[in-house]
Amino acid sequence: MAGVTDAPFRAAVRQYGVALVYSEMVASAELLRDRRSAALRLKLDHEDGPIAIQLAGRDPAALAEAARIAEAEGAILIDINMGCPAKKVVGGLCGSALMREPDLARALVRAVVETVKIPVTVKMRLGWDDADRNAPELARQLEQEGVQAVSVHGRTRAQFYEGDADWRFIAQVKDAVSIPVFANGDVRATHDAVRILKESGADGILVGRGAFGKPWIIRQMQAAVDGTPIPADPPTEEKWRTALQQYRASLAHYGPDLGRRVVRKHLGWYADAIASDKALRDALVRAGDAEPLLARLAGEAFAEAA
Ligand SMILES: Cc1cc2nc3c(=O)[nH]c(=O)nc-3n(C[C@H](O)[C@H](O)[C@H](O)COP(=O)(O)O)c2cc1C
Repeated sequence: MAGVTDAPFRAAVRQYGVALVYSEMVASAELLRDRRSAALRLKLDHEDGPIAIQLAGRDPAALAEAARIAEAEGAILIDINMGCPAKKVVGGLCGSALMREPDLARALVRAVVETVKIPVTVKMRLGWDDADRNAPELARQLEQEGVQAVSVHGRTRAQFYEGDADWRFIAQVKDAVSIPVFANGDVRATHDAVRILKESGADGILVGRGAFGKPWIIRQMQAAVDGTPIPADPPTEEKWRTALQQYRASLAHYGPDLGRRVVRKHLGWYADAIASDKALRDALVRAGDAEPLLARLAGEAFAEAA
């Protein structure tokens, strides 16, 4: 997720047993224009495990070349974005605009599949709008081009992030293809994870916003779908330790100034998830250096004194 799921956040969710993590969307044109800075942005050297790289683009040759670079940098899977609703992205005929251009969508997939050895997947929405919910047909066509799985966010482009995700419609995508389908949208609690699988018949779940500030929910969701006892929330100090680790990793990853700015929103989410305490939230978000407060919350000061 652009601007959110960076290497430090991915490290946090990995710790709680997530099966696969994706990079933020990387524009293929940008990656090709300035390989060095794009490679730095990918920051695969800070990655502590396997990663799928998500690419966006509209030019088959450029997307294929970007995929080749991503594969060479260590990606285990290339995901092509056909779901982003942002005006800037859609205006450039990328993201969800591709759902209205099935021939181009097919050509993009074909070019990437022919170029890389790793699996290629696509992330899409239900369609452009309610009058054109073409995800089942598009998924079928892309399967023919060699896509190995599709992920479906249960909203149309016209909805952006409004309304509820329609998990039942994803079942129509599942019926249309024989490759794995991953269902996505509004999975926030363990019971959502069970219900989205039941309603969509999907093979897996993508979790986005539901893991912000509480990466441990992944482990709980996994248990819920496995039908095993759902682990309790980690102790409060462990939760703050996770936040502290992400804070430190962000400073190391981006450098101290940018790192503090980037991680701030995550600290707000951790505060919301761990303690509904507005004063504490404000203190964390506003702190020039949140390390001492986070360390105290994580019990590190106590450990040092002991
Ligand atoms: C801030 C933000 C950034 C996002 N960036 C991406 C992205 O880069 N690639 C992508 O496939 N989806 C992106 N999405 C969409 C999410 O992956 C997901 O499909 C959507 O939020 C619904 O799932 P959720 O309710 O679990 O968050 C983004 C969503 C948000 C809110």
